[in-house]
Amino acid sequence: MLQRLDKLISSQGTYTRKQAQQLIKDGSVKVDGVTVRDRGFHIDPDKNEVMLEGKAFTVEKFVYLMLNKPKGVVSATNDASQKTVIDLVPDELKRRNLFPAGRLDMTTTGFVLITDDGDFAHRILSPKNHIEKTYEARLAESTTPEQMNAVAEGIVLGDGTECLPAKLRLLEDGDNPLVEIKICEGKYHQIKRMFAAAGNGVIELRRTRMGNLYLDENLPEGHCRRLTQDEVLLIEQCSDECF
Ligand code: URA
Repeated sequence: MLQRLDKLISSQGTYTRKQAQQLIKDGSVKVDGVTVRDRGFHIDPDKNEVMLEGKAFTVEKFVYLMLNKPKGVVSATNDASQKTVIDLVPDELKRRNLFPAGRLDMTTTGFVLITDDGDFAHRILSPKNHIEKTYEARLAESTTPEQMNAVAEGIVLGDGTECLPAKLRLLEDGDNPLVEIKICEGKYHQIKRMFAAAGNGVIELRRTRMGNLYLDENLPEGHCRRLTQDEVLLIEQCSDECF
């Protein structure tokens, strides 16, 4: 389908429409090897080859980013007083409609998926689709098999809210055990409230995996990177046993 060149360039989020028009005016844009200075020029992104400032320009409909969220950052698009996860996206990856697909509490760290693909976000967050979110929870007190089973079986929270069953695995025992927990819902403060209902507390919480995609161990806290198409597909894959 034919599209206006300036509109297409700005649709990728790096440049505003005005900046895209200036780039064209400056002679920084080539279509099939020929410099184009007409901002209203139309191209077919599936057929024409565009070079922008000497680099190949590819059109991606949506962007998918993995952020390793540090503590003290809000999972929101904007906030009057606090730093948000979107503030951590570097300029070269910024696009206008980015939002976090699912929220982590201010004190929770780890994997936040940031995208501008609303349908994808809806699919991975809907409990109906059984996409597991995996967390590591450091507990305030030692735990028992009975307590772990109570959370695993689908616990009722203090306010009467019923949780779906969860998968639990004890990673480290002791006074402050480390528990891996997988859930496919995203109720407010869910994991902290699940353990509270079972008589324990959560002192540290980190999301390590979404679907079958692990948080990149080489991605430092506060940093963000683009996901490959294969990685995006892994998020939508259910793990071996679904809920
Ligand atoms: N459960 C919580 O309690 N907090 C989070 O940030 C995510 C899940």
